Amino acid sequence: MSQKIAVVGSGLIGQNWSMIFASRGYKVSVFDVDQGQITRAEKNISVTLTQYEKDGFLRGEIPAAEQTKLVTFTSSLQDCLSGAIYVQECVPENLELKKKVFAQIDELIDGETLVASSSSCLPSSAFTESLKNRHNMLVAHPINPPYFVPLVELVPAPWTKQEVIAKVRELMEKVGQSPITLRRESLGFALNRIQYAAINECWNMYQSGLLSAEDIDKVCYDGLGPRYAFIGPLQTMHLNADGIVDYCKRYADGAYNVQKETFKPIPVQYDVETAEKIQAEYNASIPLDKIPEKRKWRDARLANLAKMKNHLEKDS
Ligand code: NAI
Repeated sequence: MSQKIAVVGSGLIGQNWSMIFASRGYKVSVFDVDQGQITRAEKNISVTLTQYEKDGFLRGEIPAAEQTKLVTFTSSLQDCLSGAIYVQECVPENLELKKKVFAQIDELIDGETLVASSSSCLPSSAFTESLKNRHNMLVAHPINPPYFVPLVELVPAPWTKQEVIAKVRELMEKVGQSPITLRRESLGFALNRIQYAAINECWNMYQSGLLSAEDIDKVCYDGLGPRYAFIGPLQTMHLNADGIVDYCKRYADGAYNVQKETFKPIPVQYDVETAEKIQAEYNASIPLDKIPEKRKWRDARLANLAKMKNHLEKDS
């Protein structure tokens, strides 16, 4: 008999997690406070999995119809949590709400159940401190869309047990996600810290009139993006010389001198005045009413990239 996983909140992220867990045969019970949303989520998961199967994007070896059946919905939190080995909380990013929902979960689980929040920014120490099962709780932050972008940032609170982090990491790997473990809580976790550093430079270059918005984006999607789709910045340094030590001997001074001249003090405030200028540029290519269409386009490309990376992994 397959094990049960509980998903609390059936919005965008809850639906993605449900499909990810079902792809490896877990029984998924999804709870939401909004009955209308439960109906929408149920339909959406069924339609989406069928479509992914047709497009060759479906994860796992189980047919879409069976994966769909593995995901069930309930308007009772107790039923959702009953017998679950793991809970993935996916309610909106609001501290008071997370506190409330985690307190409810804490009351209903036994000491064995592990509980992770999908929180994008809030550390779990902010909403688990007073709970009796707090040593079984942490953040497991996915990246949108999680079905095609596998990174999950595991961020333990100071009281999260090491073995709990290890078990959640193992579960993430089992369902085909790509977990990283932060050794302590850190604002912005890891991805956003790197992302903000990149955006800061983009903002500074745009504000100084060096490049157009379209060209700044191109630097990433046709330059750094393809490079970083397979190896990260540190490994790039390692491969672009005879090891990273050699890289530092050769290029560290040059890199430092560039930064000395060009880096502005951080933090950078992304100001509306600059944003309006950038948006004016995008009005030609992506006017506001075309954003939903462009999101679909982006997700389809991410789906194809995920598919290709999976094939490459299997072949290597
Ligand atoms: P969403 O707004 O799409 O879905 C939230 C769902 O939670 C709704 O269906 C709502 O009815 C339900 N809900 C509200 N109160 C509830 C309660 N007390 N009990 C059970 N369900 C309740 O939000 P989304 O985008 O799915 O985000 C969920 C979490 O994931 C947030 O913490 C967010 O920061 C995080 N996240 C979001 C990402 C994104 O790009 N949307 C990416 C990574 C993480």
